[in-house]
Amino acid sequence: MLPVRIDRADLRPLGTQLADQVRDLVVRGVLAQGDRMPASRPLAVDLGVSRAVVEQAFDQLLAEGWLEARRGSGTWVAGGPAAASARPARRRTPPVEQTLVMLDAGTPWIDPRHAAVWRRAWREVSVATPPRGYDDARGLPELRALVAERLGRTRGLAVDAATVRITGGTAAGLRHLLAVLPREPVAMEDPGYRAAVATVRESGREVRDLPAADPVVDLAGCSAAYVTPAHQHPLGRVMPAVDRLTLLATAARDGALVVEDDYDSEFRYDVAPVPALASLDRDRVAYLGTASKSILPSLRLGWMVVPDRLLDPLDVHRDLTHDAPPWPVQRAMVTLVRDGYVDAVVRSARRVYAERAPRVVAALSPYAELAGPVAGMYSTWLLPHARAVRVRAAAEDAGFRINLLRDYCRSARLSGLVVGFGGPTDDELDRALAVLVGALAA
Ligand SMILES: Cc1ncc(COP(=O)(O)O)c(C=O)c1O
Repeated sequence: MLPVRIDRADLRPLGTQLADQVRDLVVRGVLAQGDRMPASRPLAVDLGVSRAVVEQAFDQLLAEGWLEARRGSGTWVAGGPAAASARPARRRTPPVEQTLVMLDAGTPWIDPRHAAVWRRAWREVSVATPPRGYDDARGLPELRALVAERLGRTRGLAVDAATVRITGGTAAGLRHLLAVLPREPVAMEDPGYRAAVATVRESGREVRDLPAADPVVDLAGCSAAYVTPAHQHPLGRVMPAVDRLTLLATAARDGALVVEDDYDSEFRYDVAPVPALASLDRDRVAYLGTASKSILPSLRLGWMVVPDRLLDPLDVHRDLTHDAPPWPVQRAMVTLVRDGYVDAVVRSARRVYAERAPRVVAALSPYAELAGPVAGMYSTWLLPHARAVRVRAAAEDAGFRINLLRDYCRSARLSGLVVGFGGPTDDELDRALAVLVGALAA
């Protein structure tokens, strides 16, 4: 029988009491779609009410669509198998498109052994209580503290959690910075990071080209210079110490902010990671970090440390626009950093990249010239453009996506290929290299 009870002391009509309780059983899933309801006569006897009371309750629930009557076979919870045939068939999920294996600069290697930590992070999210309103626009305080600790330990950046802001990734951090900077041009490395260039252009600013290998000696009229000092994207060089000092002096002289995109600096395998440029001058440099390389680009999470004078305008902007990363993602990230997942994944990915990089270099160096040192999860090769286009097409025919160096250039006249090695499995990388060597040798 049904787990319902009629209370004679309750002022509601008996039929209403019964209808309310049955509705509640369906809502809570105690009664499932397609369950058969007891016949009205025995249910009335069981509850000690007249049959009319039960019929009145059922009529109400039939009218509301919670129950349905099937001719000759009684009353059922609506939506079960018999009813399903009357409803349009559920649409089948369209077949997944055959995707290319990404040998790009942005797909990191993910250690499959870490799936348990990943699940734990999301279990913690599922039992945590989300904030009732908009959360702290600066980012979760626990996460800011963990990020500050990690930046000190891994990037030589001694920062207080109070100056860390959580972002929706590098481009989102840049967008926030642009919202509080003067509307003047931004100097950007050429070749350089395309998402950052697009973000600057979308802000309505002009992009001034900084030849990627040259020291920066002029930032007159620019609100900022956007650079990747630890691993120039995509040529690969580390900005020499003397060029770092020149850049900081130029920025100070011309009143420009230096925006440091520190995207994959932890993945050095030849030397220890080069300390962040921001560690040399916290007043001149805004530092942008990302979870895209160490964890997953699809997480859309990053952090930034900005000069103190920008904190207030930045917070006002973020608060006003409610433009902060989703709370569940930040909460999951707390677990991932706190439990050592990020450290572990950086260590294991570094080992994998350290083993893969020489394989790629050995395979391709007889046919192309490296544009710079190999670090992180990609290598960049100089080739005549037409040849690079042919090799890329051959790779694509074989199921692999690689990028053309030309696509990162604005005024720079460089050509070649950017070959990533984080995304494929070992086996896929071997096959991809065979395809590339075949096409280069042809
Ligand atoms: C130069 C550079 N910066 C930053 C990022 C990461 O950007 P985001 O944090 O927006 O995912 C990438 C990713 O490929 C990159 O290549």
